[in-house]
Amino acid sequence: MSGELSPIDKAKFVAAKRSVDYVEDGMRVGLGTGSTAAWMVRCLGELVREDGLKIKGVPTSTRTAELAREVGIEVISLDEAKWLDLTIDGADEFDGDLSLIKGGGGALLQEKIVATASDQMIVIADIGKEVETLGAFPLPVELIPFGWQTTQALIEETLISMDVLGRNSTLRMNGPRPFITDEGNYILDLHLNRIGEPRQLAMVLNQMPGVVENGLFIDICDSVIVGFGDGRVEVR
Ligand code: 5RP
Repeated sequence: MSGELSPIDKAKFVAAKRSVDYVEDGMRVGLGTGSTAAWMVRCLGELVREDGLKIKGVPTSTRTAELAREVGIEVISLDEAKWLDLTIDGADEFDGDLSLIKGGGGALLQEKIVATASDQMIVIADIGKEVETLGAFPLPVELIPFGWQTTQALIEETLISMDVLGRNSTLRMNGPRPFITDEGNYILDLHLNRIGEPRQLAMVLNQMPGVVENGLFIDICDSVIVGFGDGRVEVR
C-alpha cells in the first residue's frame, strides 16, 4: 500500500499502520483528519475489506467521511455512536505531556468533540511533530465569522497582557477567500513561537465570545505512536 514513499510519508504511514492494531471488532472509532489520519483510514479500510473487521467510524471532517466510505468503512454520526471506544488522529505538534496543537487541516472543532467523546485517543505522528515546548506551529483558533476582526483584536490584546512572545495572528485563506471550516467558521492562526502555559492559554481563548474552539488539546491524548523515516515506530 505504501509504495515508494518519501521519509516523512513513510514515517506517517508506519505510525498509521501500527495504530490500527489497537482497533478491535465491534469498536466505534473516531477517524481523524489530515495526511497521517488518511493513511490510518486506508489501513482500516483494508482490514474491513480483506479481514472482515467490523467497525463503525465517526469521521472528523467531510474529507475523512468521503475517504472512509470510499475504502469501505461504515460511517455513522457521533450522535448515532453516542460514545466512542477509540479515536485515532494526527497532530501538528506534541510535547512530553502529550499536549497537542491540532487544526493544521482546519478540522480542530470536530476533532476535539470526537476525541473528547472517546474512551481513548491515540495520536499518530512523524517524529518531526515532537517538540519540547508547543508553539512553533501556529495555533489555530476557530472563530465565528461575525465580527471576526474584533475578536482578533481582543485575542491579540489578551496575548499582550499575558506576555506571550509572538502576538500576531493571520486569518487562514483559501485563495482569495477566507478558509471556511466544516462548521462554517473561520480559522485564525496565532503565531506565538512558544506557548509557556498551554492550559491557561486554552482557557483564556475559549472564554472569548467569538471563539468557538482552539487547537490546544490538553489531557485528551492518551498515547502517541511516532513514526520514523526508516520505518521504526515508538509509542510515547
Ligand atoms: C487537522 C489536524 C491534523 O491532524 C494535523 O494537521 C496533522 O496533519 P498531517 O497528518 O497531514 O501532518 O489537526 O485539523
